[in-house]
Amino acid sequence: MTDYIPGFGNHVSTEAVPGALPIGRNSPQRPAFGLYAEQLSGTAFTAPRHENRRSWLYRMRPTAEHPPYRRYEGAARFAPGTDDAPLAPNRLRWDPTPLPTAPTDFVDGLVTMMANRDPAELEGVALHVYAANRDMTARVFMDADGELLFIPEQGRVALHTELGRIEVAPGQIALVPRGVRFRVRLPDGKARGYLAENHGALFRLPDLGPIGANGLANPRDFETPVAWFEDSDEPTEVIQKFMGSLWTTTLDHSPLDVVAWHGNLAPWRYDLSRFNTINTVSFDHPDPSIFTVLTSPSDVPGRANADFVIFPPRWMVAENTFRPPWFHRNVMSEAMGLITGAYDAKAEGFQPGGISLHNMMAGHGPDLASWQGASAADLKPHKIDGTMAFMLESCWPYAPTTHALGHAQLDYDAVWKDFPKARLPADPSA
Ligand code: FE2
Repeated sequence: MTDYIPGFGNHVSTEAVPGALPIGRNSPQRPAFGLYAEQLSGTAFTAPRHENRRSWLYRMRPTAEHPPYRRYEGAARFAPGTDDAPLAPNRLRWDPTPLPTAPTDFVDGLVTMMANRDPAELEGVALHVYAANRDMTARVFMDADGELLFIPEQGRVALHTELGRIEVAPGQIALVPRGVRFRVRLPDGKARGYLAENHGALFRLPDLGPIGANGLANPRDFETPVAWFEDSDEPTEVIQKFMGSLWTTTLDHSPLDVVAWHGNLAPWRYDLSRFNTINTVSFDHPDPSIFTVLTSPSDVPGRANADFVIFPPRWMVAENTFRPPWFHRNVMSEAMGLITGAYDAKAEGFQPGGISLHNMMAGHGPDLASWQGASAADLKPHKIDGTMAFMLESCWPYAPTTHALGHAQLDYDAVWKDFPKARLPADPSA
């Protein structure tokens, strides 16, 4: 049984044992029960108040008490960088990552597909996939390089974090803040999905402008778990990602020992079916920014370090309009995944669990079959249903990893082959 507190970025107070949370101060001389007070900062201390995110944790042992970390040699396809070759401007697409056959937990089932900045720059995002068939036992994971957005595609994942437990199913997303340790359990025995890692400014809800006070992802639909802890003196391995590499150490206890906490930096989950989708009721379809769930701004106004955008079920009613995504070239770089169903700009080849990449200025859009179908369609109101694609759009071009380059589909360019040439009048000057 897990309880959640509704709201996005709220100041929350929660305690798993009555009396564990200090009242009126963060760091009393002697916290209740001999707990240790510890601040976890998600932003610089001096960040403006509306940007400032931190929580105070009251735990059974201080995080500082740990042996040195050494390199972790598992998860061979996670975290290592891209190869040194120049980044080609080609469009790329990948089939779903197969589920493992050997026993594989979340950490060892992680594969990095692409990244676009060095984590030390505190900018950029990476896109990983996970495919696992075993619970994490006797170990936890943490990412010092960024916050982690879980996007399940198959199977639920239960995230046992320092700040509480979250269960998330395909069609939902969950976020674990930078530095928060967690264990991944698989209630369905196996799971596959995407993991977006954000090195930059924390994801937040986008401004709504003329849309008004309500719409898109509404704050009340985000859910933060209540405090929960485990009292375990069993050895627990901590694997952390730090500056792009994995490191390991072993504690003589579980670090999931936070008995109470308060603050506004915390994990959350969100059901994508709660997204209030807005679209045209006249003609043309708006830019896909209208589907932004979360945004991580860069230092340039209006230019996102990362936008998490979805393509959810929705009615299409536009008159005299080519309804699927149009052909385009963007300064922004687009990594896409598919959670379920089919994406309306691609007839085939883009499967749930797959990925496509269209970097800065790569020409792309509907494939030939989708273009033919949509150009000839009877423009009745039409519901696009049973689908959920997402895009992790970034101002920084993505570099696929060596592993990803070795597993890309061989002839993705062919989906844009054989478009008929436009037919001009016989004498255009006439
Ligand atoms: Fe695009």
